[in-house]
Amino acid sequence: MRSDPIRGRSDRSSLNFRYWAPFLVKKLYIKTYGCQMNVYDSQRMADVLTPLGYEATDGPDDADMMVLNTCHIREKAAEKVYSELGRIRAIKDSRAEDGKETIVAVAGCVAQAEGEEIMRRAPCVDMVVGPQTYHRLPELIARAARETGGVMDLEFPVDPKFDYLPPVSARGFSAFLSIQEGCDKFCTFCVVPYTRGAEYSRPVADVVEEAALLVAGGVREITLLGQNVNAYHGAGPAEKVVGLGTLIRKLDAIDGLSAIRYTTSHPADVDEELIRAHGEVEALMPFLHLPVQSGSDRILGAMNRHHNIDHYRDVIARLKAARPDLKFSTDLIVGFPGETDADFEATMALVKEIGFVQAFSFKYSARPGTPGAVMPNHVPEGVKSERLAALQSTLLEIQVAFNDDCVGRTLPVLLDRAGRHPGQLVGRTPYMQPVHLDAPAVLMGEIVPVTIAAAHRNSLTGVLVDHSAESLAVEGARA
Ligand code: 5AD
Ligand code: SF4
Repeated sequence: MRSDPIRGRSDRSSLNFRYWAPFLVKKLYIKTYGCQMNVYDSQRMADVLTPLGYEATDGPDDADMMVLNTCHIREKAAEKVYSELGRIRAIKDSRAEDGKETIVAVAGCVAQAEGEEIMRRAPCVDMVVGPQTYHRLPELIARAARETGGVMDLEFPVDPKFDYLPPVSARGFSAFLSIQEGCDKFCTFCVVPYTRGAEYSRPVADVVEEAALLVAGGVREITLLGQNVNAYHGAGPAEKVVGLGTLIRKLDAIDGLSAIRYTTSHPADVDEELIRAHGEVEALMPFLHLPVQSGSDRILGAMNRHHNIDHYRDVIARLKAARPDLKFSTDLIVGFPGETDADFEATMALVKEIGFVQAFSFKYSARPGTPGAVMPNHVPEGVKSERLAALQSTLLEIQVAFNDDCVGRTLPVLLDRAGRHPGQLVGRTPYMQPVHLDAPAVLMGEIVPVTIAAAHRNSLTGVLVDHSAESLAVEGARA
């Protein structure tokens, strides 16, 4: 039997009225796990809680409310949540000894999948809220104050949460913007269709309005988010449904928005309109995350990926024909049930052929309730580990070779944070490589031409080009 680190004496019995009384400043700590959509959701939860008097704090110790925004995609992700709840219980207890109350909320995909289990295992949790209902956090806080025991909201409401969220607040120079959520693809390894629900696309006007607000607040780069972002089919003008390519062109018209990205896309949903946008919209960055998962057609079939390798190759070729400087990153899973050495070799071959400059690679993790979990021929853990190590070493070689290739090139770099030493800033290239350079602080938030001087494993060092000559000097800048 496993020992349970979560049980303890903190409980959720009595929340005090003052926690939902507005106008008192209260500290909010949100810890985010998993994907960028969770990062976006965490910011939106903060936006929802601001009118109640909550302001962000960096650590849990002084937090009047703590939110764990959780990820369920792989086993380890969920386990981390339970061990974090053990630590949170201790903090809640010690705050209670000082007469301070703490609201503990669990949000996100573990909440959606295991709400009851969380309530049972972790008495310090006051509320559990799913990814589609976090706009109701204020009501949940009020309910928790009225009722004894924990409160839960795991509904998939008919009206999307976006209709109820307050206007977004801009933070920094680069922002995420959720445009599509949920997934109807049902890959056999994936929990997303169960935790995030069916596909939903926000209307074009909503997205453009949110993007314009972000840009007005100083944002220069927007990454459009969706579990299946290029399945986007939002209501456009006159209720005509439009795809991602058209949406990108609408966003491109916003003055001051210099860089547009989107993630995560699906190879089966890359259409001509999107490919044309890559060729014609300068602000659409030449870097695309296009998960392939496996290089074996047999495994792709078992994964229910809706495409084969030839289709993937063809999509890449058409995208590159439209935008020759486009580079790709991907997601890969090793050890899916039934994966043989030959299947794995096919993945290795594909990785070398495409030359992914970045990749996220994972050992298959059986998720309860997914078809993959009950398939025969699960791959032993040791074999998965060997395959992952071999794959990651090849991926690293390709990444390092690409970094080396960048030396001597002049790339547009968005300077978005301070460097380690005074007088240094850090930015990102179109390919998301961090670049360290000497630059005056006034350039923070600017996109400047930088000549790459040296390459390292995970970053680059660069020299600021005299940018009176700005765009002329920047490689890839087109009329
Ligand atoms: N096991 C391992 N990796 C997974 N992913 C999704 N589900 C699983 C799973 N059960 C990976 C996929 C996906 C990325 C977000 O996480 O590669 O693209
Ligand atoms: Fe999961 Fe597949 Fe949907 Fe991506 S496309 S969210 S991997 S089911």
